[in-house]
Amino acid sequence: PSIQEMYNAFDFESVAKTVLRPEAWAYYSSGSDDEISMRENHNAFHRIWLKPRVMVDVKNIDLTTHMLGTQTALPLYLTGTALGKLGHPEGELVLTRSAAETNVIQMIPTLASCSFDEIVDAALETQTQWLQLYVNSDREITNAFVNHAEKRGIKGLFITVDAPQLGRREKDMRVKYSDDAPEEMEQKDVSRNEGAARYISTFIDPSLNWNDLSWFKSITKVPIILKGVQTSADAVQAFRHGCQGVVLSNHGGRQLDFAPSGIEILPEVIDALHKEKGFNGENFEVYVDGGIRRGSDIFKALALGASGVGIGRPALFAMSTYGQAGVTRLIQLLQEELAMNMRLMGAKSIKDIKADMVDTRNLKDH
Ligand code: FNR
Repeated sequence: PSIQEMYNAFDFESVAKTVLRPEAWAYYSSGSDDEISMRENHNAFHRIWLKPRVMVDVKNIDLTTHMLGTQTALPLYLTGTALGKLGHPEGELVLTRSAAETNVIQMIPTLASCSFDEIVDAALETQTQWLQLYVNSDREITNAFVNHAEKRGIKGLFITVDAPQLGRREKDMRVKYSDDAPEEMEQKDVSRNEGAARYISTFIDPSLNWNDLSWFKSITKVPIILKGVQTSADAVQAFRHGCQGVVLSNHGGRQLDFAPSGIEILPEVIDALHKEKGFNGENFEVYVDGGIRRGSDIFKALALGASGVGIGRPALFAMSTYGQAGVTRLIQLLQEELAMNMRLMGAKSIKDIKADMVDTRNLKDH
């Protein structure tokens, strides 16, 4: 189908399934174990209903907002996802260019197919990029990487904390890579039969813990955000340890199956933070990723207190099917959906999106 026939985020996924190589589809689409958390991520949004306000002048709608101090076109960023070249020969650079076109932030993954410098070089001077960090067992490697990233102007360090061991993604494991392994999987000493994910992730340090945060703060001035927080207790810990934020995320349902979706725990996280001394709603940002597929999903997350949301698979699928134009269209579709939602909800700007605009009574009813 032509790109004009892509009307929403799901459309790109349907096309991607038919055009991606089997190993790429397996790696991008899989979740862990029974994929319950993966499905739950989007389904949880179906349990939140909207309480629209009418008779508000919504002629002019403003979707712009700030995330970690950067102004963006809408409260949405491209989250870090590994192995971009499985889906497109130019990999993450495609995402960089679309992010520039649409004025959204891109998070660069540690396990990008392109080198970190290539991805930074592809960005405009004015463009903001964050770094998703997998912490290496060899801290000197991590130290050097973080220092380099800071010099190159990275504006947020998102330390992934939900992956001391990679989840079992069985679809991915079933694909045998022995014959035509993607280029980025060369020279690693793990059996390719473990699937792409495990193959590339053996360096990740499972000993990472709260005491390490003071070290991170000693090596960088870049804001530190923990990506993959899944309880209010840990969000509070992150705040107490001087982090600038958290991403409520179960890694797109690819790590612990039966971990809750980020959106489901968002209200309790915000409640818990408000009880913390020193928290003022502005000195610590809460993000959500997982299952964001509609403008209304973004609206709901903002209403419940998120500063923004990340999208993973939709961008990969758009990139794999229609390249830069696809990712740009995806972001524009979500932007239009969010604008329409705001109009119909009676919210003129992002700060008008409030908790009393959503009904979460059924959020906990699975
Ligand atoms: C990811 N994700 C991820 N997270 C991370 O911290 N480091 C990584 O290397 C990756 N790699 C990765 C690859 C692929 C193919 C996917 C789908 C996801 C998780 C990602 O950042 C994010 O949490 C989820 O993708 C969000 O869910 P959706 O938007 O994919 O539903």
